[in-house]
Amino acid sequence: MVIYLNKVNINWNELGFNYMKTDYSYVSYWKDGKWDEGNLVTENKICISESSSALHYGQQCFEGLKAYRTKDGSIQLFRPDENAKRMIRSAHRILMPEVPVEKFIEAVMRVVKANETYVPPYGTGATLYVRPYLIGVGDNIGVKPAPEYLFGVFCMPVGPYFKGGMIPVNFSVSGYDRAAPYGTGAAKVGGNYAGSLMPHQEAVNNGYADCIYLDPMTHKKIEEVGAANFFGITNNNEFVTPASPSILPSITKYSLMYLAENYLDLKVKESDVYIDKLDEFIEAGACGTAAVITPIGGIFYNDKLHIFHSETEVGPVTKKLYETLTGIQFGEVEAPEGWIYKVE
Ligand code: PLP
Ligand code: COI
Repeated sequence: MVIYLNKVNINWNELGFNYMKTDYSYVSYWKDGKWDEGNLVTENKICISESSSALHYGQQCFEGLKAYRTKDGSIQLFRPDENAKRMIRSAHRILMPEVPVEKFIEAVMRVVKANETYVPPYGTGATLYVRPYLIGVGDNIGVKPAPEYLFGVFCMPVGPYFKGGMIPVNFSVSGYDRAAPYGTGAAKVGGNYAGSLMPHQEAVNNGYADCIYLDPMTHKKIEEVGAANFFGITNNNEFVTPASPSILPSITKYSLMYLAENYLDLKVKESDVYIDKLDEFIEAGACGTAAVITPIGGIFYNDKLHIFHSETEVGPVTKKLYETLTGIQFGEVEAPEGWIYKVE
């Protein structure tokens, strides 16, 4: 049994998805073709040139992953290697240098370990959200890649992303796109999120948890549910999730596909999900690191609210997927090989 000092005074059960400064962050700089060693710092401010390309031309990308406290008090990460690989793909798309997988994982481990008193206790459902980011810095004014880069990692304890957690919420379909057909939708770059602020706000103002984006080419197929991927369950036990080059490839989604097939015996399909054919699904959900699994009660489209299982109750398959996924993340269910990294 690991004993840890609970020196932070936090009401773990009341946490939402909000920023909180913790004790340590990590920064590393890239210059003249190479990364420095990287350091833990206590400051939560960074000092960069006013002309940094991250500030003007959006040359930046980020990741999101979580650290989980298990029953025996230890701390573990869920598939951080996949976040590292996705950050490399994002970096390639906007001409930034790679953060090697080992460097990424080591930085995440160091930040989590240094802030271990902020990892919420087992049983609260709360987790430590870790935010790695890579930004173009240094003096520059033309639209071209930055001369220098900063890779940083910080973290904070969080609760549910959508209010209530595992309670169904409704979403409305947006007329806006979050990404262009051959744009940067599959990369986790800040520009995609800047474009999503207004559609999100409109959905919230109209009483929805967030908006659903349709495919930018035809506006007929579901792409994303805010900052999460979509899945639906058919009445012949299929887990269906959209396939599109402008969707962010969600690590949670690919993990759920594996779990659906191998732990729940469902058929799994990545294919088009037409917004006017929602009757195919008896349950639906949004999935992502922050959202975990958020059951979709209904989708508002063309002046109608299409309800899936129920607006208030979680469907049985969604519930089982949630229990299996979170069971693995919190160390209660045996994980597929290589999914769990212990923080020691
Ligand atoms: N889609 C978008 C646009 C996101 O920002 C995220 C969050 O990272 C996801 C989906 C879910 O991805 P993941 O499961 O890797 O967190
Ligand atoms: C995540 O799920 O990690 C996200 O990045 C979603 C959002 C907070 C941007």
